[in-house]
Amino acid sequence: MAMATLRVQSGGFSSVLSSSSVRLLRSQCVRRVAVQQLRIHARTEFSIESPYGPQVADAVKALRPEFEDVDTLVAVNLNRVIKAYANARVGSHHFSGTTGYGHNDAGGREALDQAFAEIVGAEAAIVRSQFFSGTHAIACALYAALRPGGELLAVAGAPYDTLEEVIGLRGSAGEGSLKEFGVSYREVPLAEDGGLDWHKLSQAVKPETQCALIQRSCGYSWRKTLTVAEIQRAIELIKAQNPDCVIVVDNCYGEFVEAIEPTAVGADLMAGSLIKNPGGTIAPCGGYVAGKSKWVQAAAARLCAPGIGMSAGSTPGDVMRLLFQGLFLAPQMVGESIKGTLLVAEVMAAEGFDCRPAPRVRRNDIIQAVQLGSRDRLLAFCRAVQKNCPVGSYIQPVAGATAGYESEVVFADGTFIDGSTSEVSCDGPLREPFVVFCQGGTHWTHWALALEGVVQALRQLK
Ligand SMILES: Cc1ncc(COP(=O)(O)O)c(C=O)c1O
Repeated sequence: MAMATLRVQSGGFSSVLSSSSVRLLRSQCVRRVAVQQLRIHARTEFSIESPYGPQVADAVKALRPEFEDVDTLVAVNLNRVIKAYANARVGSHHFSGTTGYGHNDAGGREALDQAFAEIVGAEAAIVRSQFFSGTHAIACALYAALRPGGELLAVAGAPYDTLEEVIGLRGSAGEGSLKEFGVSYREVPLAEDGGLDWHKLSQAVKPETQCALIQRSCGYSWRKTLTVAEIQRAIELIKAQNPDCVIVVDNCYGEFVEAIEPTAVGADLMAGSLIKNPGGTIAPCGGYVAGKSKWVQAAAARLCAPGIGMSAGSTPGDVMRLLFQGLFLAPQMVGESIKGTLLVAEVMAAEGFDCRPAPRVRRNDIIQAVQLGSRDRLLAFCRAVQKNCPVGSYIQPVAGATAGYESEVVFADGTFIDGSTSEVSCDGPLREPFVVFCQGGTHWTHWALALEGVVQALRQLK
């Protein structure tokens, strides 16, 4: 029997098949086509009704190109994290945790610090569950840099509310604020456009200015968030006036929003919270300080005590695993959060509200501010978001006093981690011009669902 042959090309290699092989191949092809047709058929019948109304659905459609850009950012940042984990040889033995003094650590503490430092382009980092909050980590950085007789200069206007008591601008008498330790304070007000006042900054630094504080994110103010390029320019201006001035960046809400962090462009120290961006929504607590080794060691001595150093302090095993896993997830969660801010701006601007950043403008943090103009609207917004939260949806947020804040504040934070703002949440101080600050989210669709409720609630108030 003459051999029927078929020459096939596969992956650059050609080979000769017998007639029986050809028959087998044909029958496999027929089967594959049938399965494909079945799948196509199934897909056309697989239609789920969208839960979004027209205002949200239109916004989602319009934002597809921006969402793609965000995915690219996520890939770039995730790549950095993967490389840093490989270099630190992160392994499951690092999740074992410690007790007591924490001297029995199996290398997890050091691996996490090393990986974090590499990710943010710093010489060193201390990433610990023992930091209570972002304010605590920033305070440790400030106390590391400042000594009696020195001056702290806030270069981006008033610092975040909770730092007022650390500096000694209000309250905290007898608690050891910087002011009580003989540290003076000055501010460079923001320019009219809400950004840095470059002219004033170029003359603001004095010989006694020991430390300059740069707040990257807008916090609770109607101002611009700084880009890392602007932070670099500010650092260069400050160092040109006083090379010994220690630059501390309040990096809360900025991590992974760009492909580079302030420590990679000259910041001596930066600090933030793990229940915000770098905790990836699952770190249960903690914060970090990163920067030049000398200053990180000094900040560590404020977290614990002088002489104890960075190789102490116990953290339970489950927490260590969550810190590693959360940092790994962080670029992706920040990406989802950024998509959420884009969506909030798109929908709320269409409803006639002033948004900062404006719709479709590049994001520099994960916060979307919306000026609501009245106390009732601010409360209604937060209540509608809370109703769409996975935890405590039945709770009605009310305005109240919160430690560290002078104004009454309202929070919608039905989150798995108490106070986490990397999960869907919003809040705002009850003061003019009644701005709601929205942030977080494990997926942008959560914001899309919440916005449905927000739009209805606000329309009822009009
Ligand atoms: C810019 C900025 N800095 C610092 C903080 C304080 O962070 P924490 O609430 O973790 O103390 C916040 C909190 O929202 C903030 O927005």
